[in-house]
Amino acid sequence: MLIPLTELLQEARRAGWATPAFNVANSDTVAAVMEVAQEARSPLILLARGPDIDLIGGTVQAAMRRFPRLPVVLHLDHGRAFPEAVRAIGHGFSSVMVDGSILPYAENLALTLRVVEIARAVGCSVEGEIGHVGAGSDHPSRQAHHLTDPEEATRFARASGVDCLAVAVGTAHGEYQHGPPQLDFLRLEAIARQVEVPLVLHGGSGTPPEQLHRAIVTGVAKINVATDVRRAFIAGFRQAAEGPGGDVDLNRCLKAARQAVTEAVRAWVELAGSANRF
Ligand code: 13P
Repeated sequence: MLIPLTELLQEARRAGWATPAFNVANSDTVAAVMEVAQEARSPLILLARGPDIDLIGGTVQAAMRRFPRLPVVLHLDHGRAFPEAVRAIGHGFSSVMVDGSILPYAENLALTLRVVEIARAVGCSVEGEIGHVGAGSDHPSRQAHHLTDPEEATRFARASGVDCLAVAVGTAHGEYQHGPPQLDFLRLEAIARQVEVPLVLHGGSGTPPEQLHRAIVTGVAKINVATDVRRAFIAGFRQAAEGPGGDVDLNRCLKAARQAVTEAVRAWVELAGSANRF
């Protein structure tokens, strides 16, 4: 059952849990993530990048036949341009992120408004971003210039009409190369007090669990996870490939990769508190 983000995240925020959102890249990652969600009765958000829209759109539609009751949000992650959002919606996505976070405020707002307008027309939800979540390879002092300003976030959420808002409060995408992040909770609390829509935390992988718990209690209702899924898949595949006969048995390697993803996803569902929610 394909659903938009809106009510799912509102309910999560109200009740103090979050939905982890997993980056998926092929049918194996889609299957692994869905199996865990069904078994744990956790609603699910699947994240696809722009170049993967066609592949993931078709793969998810096919996989959903196995899990007709599982609430799934198929979400475009970091859509950077209007045509990308249109393409995702055309491929059956139920939700899109429009990321104009590197643009000046007025341009970010204009782009986001255009996407909100077409998404609304077809019942699709929209995530925007204000402030800019960078890469784990950046030094935190560089990141500090791009943290979300609470007043700006409030204005942006109201003016754009987004269903949820990604904010920069100290996390980053990919491996943290300068040690674990230190979330700016005073900033997050100020944002959560003023912004009415649920908040989204990007760069989930590598963030210490106690900081994630505190972020969820403060108002984060969606946590994006990509690196953990990719790392698990590659490690599982590699381990099987390096075992006896593994180098010629592709299906055995893929099965091991799926198994490793399953374990990583289970840990995230537990951490976010999204089990038994449907
Ligand atoms: P990580 O790769 O750090 O988990 O970040 C994922 C993300 O935020 C995708 O939008």
